[in-house]
Order: sequence, then C-alpha cells, then structure tokens
Amino acid sequence: MSVSLSTAASLYDRVRRVIPPIEWPAFTDDIDAILVLKRERNAVILAHNYQTPEIFHCVADIVGDSLALARRAMTVDADVIVLAGVHFMAETAKLLNPGKTVLIPDLGAGCSLADSITASDVRLMRQRYPGVPVVTYVNTSAAVTAESDICCTSGNALAIVESLGAPQVIMLPDEYLARNIAAQTKVEIIAWKGHCEVHERFSPADIRELRESHPGVTVLAHPECPPEVVAEADFAGSTAAMSDYVGRHKPARVVLMTECSMSDNVAVEHPDVDFVRPCNLCPHMKRITLANIRAALEENRHIVTIDPAVAEGARRAVERMLAI
Ligand code: 13P
Ligand code: SF4
Repeated sequence: MSVSLSTAASLYDRVRRVIPPIEWPAFTDDIDAILVLKRERNAVILAHNYQTPEIFHCVADIVGDSLALARRAMTVDADVIVLAGVHFMAETAKLLNPGKTVLIPDLGAGCSLADSITASDVRLMRQRYPGVPVVTYVNTSAAVTAESDICCTSGNALAIVESLGAPQVIMLPDEYLARNIAAQTKVEIIAWKGHCEVHERFSPADIRELRESHPGVTVLAHPECPPEVVAEADFAGSTAAMSDYVGRHKPARVVLMTECSMSDNVAVEHPDVDFVRPCNLCPHMKRITLANIRAALEENRHIVTIDPAVAEGARRAVERMLAI
C-alpha cells in the first residue's frame, strides 16, 4: 500500500500493535495534512529506522538505515526531500541532490558522534599518520566528510576498510565501531574517541540479565555498542541488518540493543516474534515529530544548505562509498 494514496483512517491497521487506540486520534490530523502536502509539493519523506511508528509506517515513503537512505536519496524523483532523521543524514541527502530542496524538520536533531570531531581534528590526524587513508563514518558533518578519503556506514564499514588495500586505516569518529571492525579484519585500525550517547550505555551485564530473565532470547546489537557488548550478542549489524535478521531467522523472542523505536517498527512487520524492549532513546531522533514534519512542508523549513567550500570534497567521499 502506498502511503501517499492513503488517509490516516486507512493506516491505523498497520500500527495497531504498537500505537494504542487511545493515542491514535492525536496523530490523525497531522497524518492527513502531511499526505496532502506531499502530493501538493511533490515531496518525499525519507525516514530512518529510529523514527517513531506513526512517522515510519504512516507518512514515510522511503525507510531504512543510513546506507539505504543515502542510496535511495540518489534516485529520488521529487522536488522536495524531507529527512525524518538527524542532521548528518539530511546533509548526505543534500550532497547527493544539490538541485533539490532538502528539509530537516528540527535543526537541533544532531548526533553525539558528529559533535565529537571537527575538520581540523581530521587534518591533525593526517599530520600524525601521514599517508594513512581516512575512513569517516557517515555520522559526521559535511565539513569532516570533506577531509576524508571515503565514508562508511555501519552497514558497509568492513567492506569499505578492506576495499582500500592499505595495511593501516584511520577510522573516525566512532571508537566502538572502529574496534568492532578491527576485530574482523587484518587491517590495523587507528580510532578516534567519539561515542554514540545511545549505544555506549549498553553493557555486557545488561545482556546477561536479559538472558537470565528471558531464557532463549536472541540478542542483536548495533556495532556502535562497546565491543564487550557485541561480543556477548548473537549478532551485530546495522539497523537494517538487525531488521533483516529478524525477518530471516524469526526468533521466538528477540531483543535489539539499540534505539527504542527500532523494536516498534520491526515488531509491526513480525507479529509472531516477541520483542523484549529495554532500549535507550536517541534525543536527537526524537526531535522529529509529525507536527514538525507538517510544519516543514507548510513553511518550507529548515532548508539544508552545505558550504560550497566543503560540498565537493564531501560529495566525493560519499559517492566513493556508494560506488563500492
Ligand atoms: P544505521 O546506519 O545502522 O541505521 O545507524 C545509524 C545510527 O545513527 C545508529 O545510531
Ligand atoms: Fe547519533 Fe547515536 Fe542518535 Fe544514531 S543513535 S543519531 S549515532 S546519537
């Protein structure tokens, strides 16, 4: 079913398992308005897997992990792109669509990883490790991306690192992603000290407690979690890889060590799987709401712009990643 031809009333069935009937009326006006505005403005909404179910399942046209959103952004046929996610994702969409209007509903939707490093930090790393290629996680500003040789996401980090054919690689800015990748490759990884404020809070003790209180539970973890957490999980992968895992293996009971909305969104697709839900909220992702998506389309805000001085270099690093 295409959301753009629907009305809120016809969409409730999709989300009834995760949105109680008493809460639903609070969403319907905004959903109906957004569906009309999308048609009027020839707009599409790209939503990350951490968006709440009323956004993810009821108004988004394209959903996925950071890699999928970047890939799909390349082929979007619309005048306007609304990015329901965080600022670096909107910048990536703008880099790939310089001629389109890209809107982010709340300019404060940042990311602790993006905030952990500046372009001058990258230049200092290059001075310290001359000739070593720089792989930058896409969770960074365009200015940082522009200083990099190539980007990666959690979905392709190992392939990107190994594609360079170098014995040593600088991998920025997520220390835990870098260490999790280092455990899978012979390439020597030089890491930065950035952390995701959501995933760094999970601990191996959390997993042990979950296994005790929910015997037989399958534990999936995002690679932004500390390596000790990944080591105790049954599987680690990007948000899309975790969702695929549930679809392929259909565990009777599963826990996703990641942002809260992810379980709701995946549970909608898998009514037969029992989701245990300890989770941590990403305050940046949660800044995006139906109300500010509607305002973005009504008032054409907030327009994402990229400093021309960094756009070319940043686009090169993103396109190089997408070519692999
Ligand atoms: P994914 O690329 O796995 O969707 O991760 C993005 C993100 O911000 C995770 O915290
Ligand atoms: Fe950034 Fe972590 Fe939020 Fe993802 S979950 S946007 S990495 S702070």
